[in-house]
Amino acid sequence: MKVMAFVGSPRRDGNTEKLVKAICKGAKERGHEVDMYHLSEMNNKGCIACDACQRQKVDFCSIDDKLTTLLPEIAKADCLIVGTPIYMLHVSGETKNFLDRMRAFLNPDLTTNHLPGKKYITVTCSGAPAAQFSNVTDYLNYLLDFYKMENAGNIIAGHLREKDDIIWQTKMLEEAEALGRKLS
Ligand SMILES: Cc1cc2nc3c(=O)[nH]c(=O)nc-3n(C[C@H](O)[C@H](O)[C@H](O)COP(=O)(O)O)c2cc1C
Repeated sequence: MKVMAFVGSPRRDGNTEKLVKAICKGAKERGHEVDMYHLSEMNNKGCIACDACQRQKVDFCSIDDKLTTLLPEIAKADCLIVGTPIYMLHVSGETKNFLDRMRAFLNPDLTTNHLPGKKYITVTCSGAPAAQFSNVTDYLNYLLDFYKMENAGNIIAGHLREKDDIIWQTKMLEEAEALGRKLS
């Protein structure tokens, strides 16, 4: 299984990255091929609403950046992991740009290409208690389910302020690793 993991936090080695890495560790133990990407280090642009993807003028996206080169890889992957910190009550800007660019997989009649049947796992990290931002996980599930992807788990972590705080939430890290190990 080919797994692609996207970290939407600009804070290197922070809580989001640690949880995503724990899932990746489990997935690697299971023998899956795993690649992790830091969205904030890819210099990705936001969607420019050129509609080239909607008019089938391009294979995936007209924007000349790293994410466009990864879209065909995403099309070939079996599982996507999307991790985001909660910023101002929602996903981070990097994560939202990434999700907007997924429009490349949407047809004008709202059917979807390439993504149906792929698995996904989401991770959210907030300073507030986890339950306070479960709506963001609901949003991610709603969007990815709309793409007819299959939910393989959600990690919703809270009480995270300093970048190492998740280290003390050993059960949460174990849960993340177990999700990765369960992927099939
Ligand atoms: C710009 C910014 C906005 C934030 N907004 C919220 C918020 O609305 N609610 C919240 O609970 N935590 C908020 N936080 C805290 C982060 O969600 C939390 O520290 C998270 O663990 C960061 O993830 P990271 O460790 O991967 O960087 C914010 C942090 C930053 C830097």
